[in-house]
Amino acid sequence: MPADIERKGIILAGGQGTRLYPITLGVSKQLAPIYNKPMIYYPLTTLMLANIKKFLIISCNDNLKLFKKLLGDGSHLGISIEYAVQDKPNGLAQAFVIGSTFIANSNVALALGDNLFHGEELVSKLRNANSRNKGATIFAYRVNDPKRYGIVEFNEEGLVLNIEEKPKFPKSNFAVTGLYFYDNSVVNLAKSITPSKRGEYEITDLNNIYLRNNLLNVEIMGRGTAWLDTGTFESLHEASSYVKTLEHQLGLLIGSPEEVAWRKNLIDNKQLKILARKLNKSEYGKMLYRLVKDI
Ligand code: TTP
Repeated sequence: MPADIERKGIILAGGQGTRLYPITLGVSKQLAPIYNKPMIYYPLTTLMLANIKKFLIISCNDNLKLFKKLLGDGSHLGISIEYAVQDKPNGLAQAFVIGSTFIANSNVALALGDNLFHGEELVSKLRNANSRNKGATIFAYRVNDPKRYGIVEFNEEGLVLNIEEKPKFPKSNFAVTGLYFYDNSVVNLAKSITPSKRGEYEITDLNNIYLRNNLLNVEIMGRGTAWLDTGTFESLHEASSYVKTLEHQLGLLIGSPEEVAWRKNLIDNKQLKILARKLNKSEYGKMLYRLVKDI
């Protein structure tokens, strides 16, 4: 067995959020609430579930102050969080250039700050992706409106032939979601690509390089998993309803970094109680407290 290579996590939380104007005129989209918690809690939790402990949050300068106020250096969650600036939303692939010093010799996972994943099969898929030391893993999900996404083209045997960014004539209904696992070579690849016709450094270009080198795993997320992209009023509202419904039914939180930190033993009972007490006026804090009150 080769020694495991550490994998670090990047959350890309820049962008302008123009589809959410005027909400995002004054505040970062990824700080907008999805039901009872800020949007960025969800991608952070997803990466923590993949066993990642070292994070970089990338956003524009003004918003970084707010993310720091919210999440600090991560030590209260038993993780580390660093921050970096992306001046302009020039494309997802820039994350690996901006984050190159942070990534250093590690492998890396990227989560888009406005993507929410939830479901039974998710954790095992994340663990599998994390355990692949070489190559890349991306996740495809069936969508109704494929022209808006990076779309995977399959041959008759189900093998991936190509990925096309926002195709006019989509070759399938399977979109690439905002969660990507790469080996360390992604840093140099990201430095080597040039902007697309729409002026962005495209993550689809990186994925196609891995594909051509036979190093791309495309995992299909089935109907047992929810993938919600929360970039419009409609999807923001739907995501809030989804979380509210499930949390009320289960009596458990979805997308809580405090809970995941505790379940992964990154923080102990006492530390969770301290975090919960700070929030005890809200139902969120009370739900955290209930996790440990009987222990
Ligand atoms: P998008 O939804 O494509 O862009 P946006 O967030 O600016 O929204 P809108 O289309 O309404 O203007 O971005 C997806 C996610 O990626 C989102 O979390 C923002 C983030 N992002 C960056 O941080 N940097 C970038 O260069 C790009 C393109 C996106």
